Amino acid sequence: MCGIIGVLGKHEVAPLLVESLKRLEYRGYDSAGIATVRDGHLDRRRAVGKLVNLSDLLVHQPLAGKSGIGHTRWATHGAATTENAHPHLSGPVAVVHNGIIENFRELREELAAAGIHPETETDTETVALLTRLHMDRGMAPREAALTTLRKLDGAFALLWLFDGEDDLMIAARKGSPLCIGYGTGEMFVGSDAIALAPMTNEITYLEEGDYAFVTRVGAEIFDESGRRANRDKQVIDAGSVQVEKAGYKHFMAKEIAEQPAVLGDALRNYVRKDGLNLPDGLDFSGLDRLTLVACGTAFYACSVAKYWFESLAGLPCEIDVASEFRYREPPMPKNSWALFVSQSGETADTLAALRYSAEHVAKTIAVVNVPTSTMAREADVALPIHAGIEVGVASTKAFTCQLLTLAVLALKAGIDRGHLSPEQLAAHLETLRALPGLMNTALGTSDDIARLAERLAEAQDILFLGRGPLSPLAMEGALKLKEISYIHAEGYASGELKHGPIALIERTVPVIVFAPHDRLFDKTVSNMQEVMARHGQVLLVSDSKGLATASEGTWATLKMPEVAEPFAPILYALPAQLIAYHTACAKGTDVDQPRNLAKSVTVE
Ligand code: F6R
Repeated sequence: MCGIIGVLGKHEVAPLLVESLKRLEYRGYDSAGIATVRDGHLDRRRAVGKLVNLSDLLVHQPLAGKSGIGHTRWATHGAATTENAHPHLSGPVAVVHNGIIENFRELREELAAAGIHPETETDTETVALLTRLHMDRGMAPREAALTTLRKLDGAFALLWLFDGEDDLMIAARKGSPLCIGYGTGEMFVGSDAIALAPMTNEITYLEEGDYAFVTRVGAEIFDESGRRANRDKQVIDAGSVQVEKAGYKHFMAKEIAEQPAVLGDALRNYVRKDGLNLPDGLDFSGLDRLTLVACGTAFYACSVAKYWFESLAGLPCEIDVASEFRYREPPMPKNSWALFVSQSGETADTLAALRYSAEHVAKTIAVVNVPTSTMAREADVALPIHAGIEVGVASTKAFTCQLLTLAVLALKAGIDRGHLSPEQLAAHLETLRALPGLMNTALGTSDDIARLAERLAEAQDILFLGRGPLSPLAMEGALKLKEISYIHAEGYASGELKHGPIALIERTVPVIVFAPHDRLFDKTVSNMQEVMARHGQVLLVSDSKGLATASEGTWATLKMPEVAEPFAPILYALPAQLIAYHTACAKGTDVDQPRNLAKSVTVE
């Protein structure tokens, strides 16, 4: 979602701020702005749309100054307009903000009583107005910002800059991540390490409730109760913040192509020659239930994993999307664990579900891509998925690495619960070890998919079908396609077809069927025949055995290498992603930053 950058520098900061905001583009945004202090005077520039609009504005109306803050906004309260864009300015105060100030309406009433009225629709402006009110009443910037901070409810990260103070930024974290970067005679603040990467690799992550006074000589950090806090400085590995396309047209293309390599990394971390390599404290024997909760693509990873935990370990599983789970306040057996899957580790609904579960179950587990994330810190056990930074808004390599990590956990559960023999475990590990190679073969279908995509791009509606663990993959395929190509798509368990969706079938509706030649193959083929009998155009994705028996009458086929049950979804994710990618390219949409979407959804 929104991105924050702040610099107390030695040189002009406007170019640095814009450059950092570019690195934060992947988070998703619809307007951007910067503010600087020059000779004690605060000024700002803001523009709707892509950063190029802000850069153009700065060419015509440059902004000088060596201290500045910047922001990319993903609209929540108020439309994406210049007026609503950050930084918000009121008198001597400039503020940028991620997240939501939940009590902004009450705060507006307080401001109205003092004769101050908002000029924008945003919750953020309230912070600037309140801080200004406190300064008008005689408080210095630090005291004014802290007095304001204590009044705010919600989940947010804030950064203040002040008129007349070109050596001070005030940062606060409550719910949304924020980090401080150290330079020589320069200091930085960013919503993540990626924003700060070209300027520094020495970073301190603020903890929940922390606030900091940042000057060019360093940062004084305080915890929620106002006590001085010593937070670790970390040196960030350059590779972990690399956001280059490396010759690919889009980050998404690069991230799809990286999957054999990153899956190999994840495997090396969790599977050793002699078996599984998981942290201590993960003994599944005697467990009554596992609850898996996530949002979006991560939820579909959980939905696939449910099949694995049940079939490989005989472990009863419940799955839910986090936005429903958190408010239905479900009863959870004490003798159960809850597992949360999140690429970012910051998704507001998933985090709330984790916090709810922590009160009810014996153990919480976070499966995340960002090891420094809030979920990783708050869960009893954190398992990184080792996908490396994912920049494309549509999740690809994180999905397959989530699946791999969940597969390893399901195998561990199978052994712990006596459901799998050592021989069966060894056979399943062989299947997992073969996956990177098979993925390379699957990537070889990219050109064929690009040709088929020309036709898919003309469709208004597309259906995806699959059975067993391939049925959540059908839903993931549909999600991927709709989010980046804007074509309406639905994924169904193929057995559900005749309970309603079959009414949609006609000549113009492509139906994409994921069907490896497994024990459910014949069932899926029957559903596929029902589609073809109604002139539906079937694209069958299967292996050589499957294609040899069921290609007749299809519109097109795609050949995948053979993969042993039950891990086919990890391999079949690749054609699903490539279908979405090439269809979006054929339509000419913004693949890496599709409209209305944000990479890390830190508001509910
Ligand atoms: C879709 C996609 C989203 C995310 C969802 C959860 O391609 O990326 O559906 O999966 O917003 O995000 P995380 O995994 O960060 O919790």
